[in-house]
Amino acid sequence: MNIKEKHLFGEVEAYKFGFGPFGPPLMSVFLYYLDGLVIDTALSNMQKHVIGALKEKKPGKVLLTHHHEDHSGNASAISRYFNIKVYGHSITADKMKTTFKIRPYQLYTWGKSQPVSVSSLPAVVETEKYKLRPVHTPGHSSDHTVYLEENHGWLFSGDLYLGEKIKYFRSDEKFKDQIDSIKMILEYDFDALFCAHNPVPKNGKARLTKKLSFLEELYGEVQRLRFKGFSEEEIVKALGNEKDKLVKFVTFGNVSFAQMVRSAMES
Ligand SMILES: [Fe+2]
Repeated sequence: MNIKEKHLFGEVEAYKFGFGPFGPPLMSVFLYYLDGLVIDTALSNMQKHVIGALKEKKPGKVLLTHHHEDHSGNASAISRYFNIKVYGHSITADKMKTTFKIRPYQLYTWGKSQPVSVSSLPAVVETEKYKLRPVHTPGHSSDHTVYLEENHGWLFSGDLYLGEKIKYFRSDEKFKDQIDSIKMILEYDFDALFCAHNPVPKNGKARLTKKLSFLEELYGEVQRLRFKGFSEEEIVKALGNEKDKLVKFVTFGNVSFAQMVRSAMES
């Protein structure tokens, strides 16, 4: 069962895609379209549908929040089909130079990203109507970048938010960097959080503030137990999170609550 839906948040168009050949998709993702800008490109397993949805538009540029395959999956295809450039952080550019390795669950859920040339971001990305400021927000990944439209109070937040109480990390996520990035972005004014998996069109700043509190609390707890001499395994047990069992199984442990604890301990 595949997902392709279009949602409208005022002038921001959101396209939701998901791929599930044997049932509902494990996860879906949003691609945003705004005045000629395509912000993230969804999964390559849905390439035909993604190109189909954009055909009626006139995309002039692609912006990437980060290189993960559910965001960069169709960057190369869109760039070639519409003959347009892809922009992103210099680390994103490095990652996208070649095909990067993904795990079986990623291949099944999303598909591979093809290499594409990623141009460096200007200080402000301008369209006819809007001005988007790229802000580097490492933590979820080292290249993670969000796009802020200050006049309208919109934050295209990639995977910075995801939810108030997240239950697991990928192995490459950095706990302390996420806290620092969220703190930094909360200094700016915005209300809508155009998250790549969970859009929050109103009160987005309050929701992101709640995520920050949750992360800080969990970080404190992990440190408290660590100084008491608890091992990683003991901390995971003490802070109990049974909800990651399925995701841990499907991802062979690459995504889990233990990865969150590990990252907090390493920070
Ligand atoms: Fe991601």
